[in-house]
Amino acid sequence: METMSATGVISVRDLVKTYRIHEKPAGFKNTIADLFARKYIEKKAVDNLSFDVEPGEIVGLLGENGAGKTTTLKMLTGILYPTSGGATVAGFIPTQRKRAFLKKICFVMGNKSDITWDLPAVDTFRYQQLVYGVPDKEYRESVDMLSALLGVSHLLNTQIRRLSLGERMKMELINSFLYSPEIVFLDEPTIGLDLESQMAIRAFLRQYRKERQTTIIITSHYMDDIEETCDRVIMLNHGQKVFDGGIDEIKRPDMPFKDIVLSMMGGGAAGAAGVAGTVSTTGAASTHGAAGAADASEAPES
Ligand SMILES: Nc1ncnc2c1ncn2[C@@H]1O[C@H](COP(=O)(O)OP(=O)(O)O)[C@@H](O)[C@H]1O
Ligand SMILES: [Mg+2]
Repeated sequence: METMSATGVISVRDLVKTYRIHEKPAGFKNTIADLFARKYIEKKAVDNLSFDVEPGEIVGLLGENGAGKTTTLKMLTGILYPTSGGATVAGFIPTQRKRAFLKKICFVMGNKSDITWDLPAVDTFRYQQLVYGVPDKEYRESVDMLSALLGVSHLLNTQIRRLSLGERMKMELINSFLYSPEIVFLDEPTIGLDLESQMAIRAFLRQYRKERQTTIIITSHYMDDIEETCDRVIMLNHGQKVFDGGIDEIKRPDMPFKDIVLSMMGGGAAGAAGVAGTVSTTGAASTHGAAGAADASEAPES
């Protein structure tokens, strides 16, 4: 039995994630001592987070590097167990990673690839079709529509390694959208991309949402991403929610944490080139649904 969410398609209540980090001491003697009495420090990455998302909303999760954005998405997609609190997504408890749940969501990480480099994109798409049981007609329509929207129809048979970073990301998006997920989680989908690809992806997301009324949560530390795609912004600072409101409100002079907003503006392409600073993903479970269906184990914590 699945639990129905109280409100909204995503309902997050008092969500907390504390990482236990092993502090490695310096020196041989201390290393030996450490084997017997390990020292840990605790890091609260997500701190008492609550919010609801209505069907069809595009919500931007904004915050500087280390603010807790990725950790939040990993909990909402069931890759990480919360330390306390919880969430329901489409009426499911994410960590149970039920097949029906995994078919309703997709999770795209800008810094992580689900696509095989030696093959053309269509081969990966075909595999995805099988995994998700997408009927042929729907599969063809989806791939045609998505690749046209993203402007990569002519590249579907090209080996992935021959594509540019931006083109690869577009293939990644097609791969994740082709089974028509109802709720889409995007973690920094434009990270490191050229400006043109960034703009194409933003336009794609707006258009796709318009046509499909998909619910989308997108994280970014570029204000441009959020401004151009989202109706609503949730801002995190040290794991805490410090703002939740309309995109227009965020630039008001009396906006709290104005300095954070300012530091994330003018990110865009200039920022993109220099930023690879997000914490590497733990990768314990597949970011993709059905492939990792049985695996709700917690990612290693250090
Ligand atoms: N696997 C992990 N082990 C220990 N600490 C982590 C791990 N993943 C993230 N953190 C820490 O948790 C905080 C939030 O990280 P993250 O959710 O990746 O932030 P963001 O995505 O906003 O950059 C950071 O301080 C980061 O160093
Ligand atoms: Mg991140």
